[in-house]
Amino acid sequence: MLEKIEWEMAYTTGVIVIDNQHRELFSRYNSLVDAVNAGEAVEMRTFIESLEQYIFQHFTYEERMMRTLGYDQHESHVAEHQTFTEELKQLDKVYADAGTQTAAEKIGQFIANWLTHHILEVDMLYRDTLL
Ligand SMILES: [Fe+2]
Repeated sequence: MLEKIEWEMAYTTGVIVIDNQHRELFSRYNSLVDAVNAGEAVEMRTFIESLEQYIFQHFTYEERMMRTLGYDQHESHVAEHQTFTEELKQLDKVYADAGTQTAAEKIGQFIANWLTHHILEVDMLYRDTLL
C-alpha cells in the first residue's frame, strides 16, 4: 500500500509558481496512490505517465529559473534531477515489462521519497535566489 503525501507548510519555498507546481505533483502522485492501491491497471499506467510528464516539465521550469537568476548551485541541483531521472527510467523499464501493481508501487514509493526529500533539502536552498 502506498500512502498519500499531504501538503504541509514545511514544503513551502515561497516561490509561488514553484510551490504551485509542487502541489500539482503531490496531487498527481495522490491520484496514482488511489489507482495503485485499488489495483486499477489502466489508471496506474495513466497516472504514472501523467506524474512523470509533469515532473519533467517542472524540472525544466525550475532549471530555467535557476539559470536565469544565476543561482550558484545550479549545476549540482541539475545533477540531482538527472540522477533521479535515470533511476526513474530504470524503474519504468521494469514496470513496462511487468506492468504489475508491485512494480507500480515501487515507482510510486521511489518518487514520493525522492520528491519530499528533494523539496525539503535541495529546493529550499534556492529560495533566497529565486524569491
Ligand atoms: Fe529541484
